[in-house]
Amino acid sequence: MEKATKRHSFTGSLGFVLAAAGSAVGLGNIWRFPYLAAKDGGGLFLVIYIVLAFTFGFTLLITEISIGRMTKQSPLTAYGRLSSKWKPLGVIACIVPAIILPYYCAIGGWVIKYLFVFITGDGIKAAENGYFTSFISSEAEPVIMMIIFLAITAFIVFRGVNKGIEAMSKILMPVLLILVIVIAVFSLTLTYTDDSGVTRTGLEGLGKFVIPDFSNITVGSFFTTLLDAMGQLFFSLSVAMGIMITYGSYVNDDANLKTSINRIEIFDTLVAFLAGVMIIPAVYAFEGNAGMESSGPGLLFVTMPKVFAEMGGIGRFVGILFFAMILFAALTSAVSIMEAVVSCLMDGMRMSRNKATGIETMVTLIAALLVCFGYNFLYFEAKLPNGTTAQILDIMDYISNNLLMPIVAILTCILIGWVVKPHTVIEEVEKTGCKMSRKTLYIVMIKFVTPIMLTVLFVKSIGLF
Ligand code: ALA
Repeated sequence: MEKATKRHSFTGSLGFVLAAAGSAVGLGNIWRFPYLAAKDGGGLFLVIYIVLAFTFGFTLLITEISIGRMTKQSPLTAYGRLSSKWKPLGVIACIVPAIILPYYCAIGGWVIKYLFVFITGDGIKAAENGYFTSFISSEAEPVIMMIIFLAITAFIVFRGVNKGIEAMSKILMPVLLILVIVIAVFSLTLTYTDDSGVTRTGLEGLGKFVIPDFSNITVGSFFTTLLDAMGQLFFSLSVAMGIMITYGSYVNDDANLKTSINRIEIFDTLVAFLAGVMIIPAVYAFEGNAGMESSGPGLLFVTMPKVFAEMGGIGRFVGILFFAMILFAALTSAVSIMEAVVSCLMDGMRMSRNKATGIETMVTLIAALLVCFGYNFLYFEAKLPNGTTAQILDIMDYISNNLLMPIVAILTCILIGWVVKPHTVIEEVEKTGCKMSRKTLYIVMIKFVTPIMLTVLFVKSIGLF
């Protein structure tokens, strides 16, 4: 056994806020938020999402960050410090990021490939039908790209909390924000006339995104919007993945948690909103309503290259900015996911950072190879309980997001709400002398509303209704 090294901490609130926001802002903000907003009645989804962010999201975020700071432990060991009977919850919380990281790296590799494609001027090819499928099903390229992405992630984690995570976040997050704003503004200026002579503008697309559509609203559709917003928020805020406990454990005792958490929520919600302003107007102008039905990999790697191709010469440049921005968002999230596992190995097995990072990189490499091979050598089509058809990547995504994450979050609410009691978190937030706002709301949310909402989400996500 090796001796554990001294626990590092963020040098200040700015480093922590940018690192946590970097974790939160990821693929989820960019490929799922705009699609859900367009599907679920535009402005209505936005309003529900914002209300949930400052109630449901706030509850989960403040709980995890406080658990981290009060125990100064990784997720593997933090729960056991709060109550020894709850140690097994730490094991599940540590498994979640270990499952997510390999497929996040595979997708990160796809982003690097598309960035190269646009830099080398081949963006037009990427707009051709079948390009994406033929790329992900090819044998060598997705593996090489995945390894590049994994190597960059591992290098940052290897450099540690200050020289790695904090330094990266302080550079990449401001650049990311500028890129999103520039592309969003450009998107709003677009006008396109299609072959049938119909002209659509970016501003009309913006309308689809922000103006509430109450025309077909029913109790059922409202409920769907609510669950969509909740599921999205959950992934987007990086809660129930062990990450926020890990990052919380690196926060100094004199940092003001209340302000930091508000800033993380605002940053994540702002980028999700701007991603919508960036994507929906462009997709609507060039692809019409049909284009707005794509999400996930289909949106990023199939629809968006078509949009850039339609833009003409400037499309290549916008494509480069777009995929660079996504790379930064994916990288800052992947680093946080790897750091969550590495911190578990360091605290739970008393490994050095170098050894823990090396082991986690090897394990991720093997699992990520399986993810890449899931599109060629190991191709199969599995039916998931929620009715979707899945390859290895989707199965890992389903196990982490639909099964384990809700379980971790529900049990965390029960532990804090009923076993160690909400005042433990409130005292942690208030120990620097600040008054925690939304205190009563927090108590009601953590004891009753959040676990009930999460249980409904869980039951729905496993396809029971
Ligand atoms: N929160 C990160 C994302 O949205 C994991 O992708």
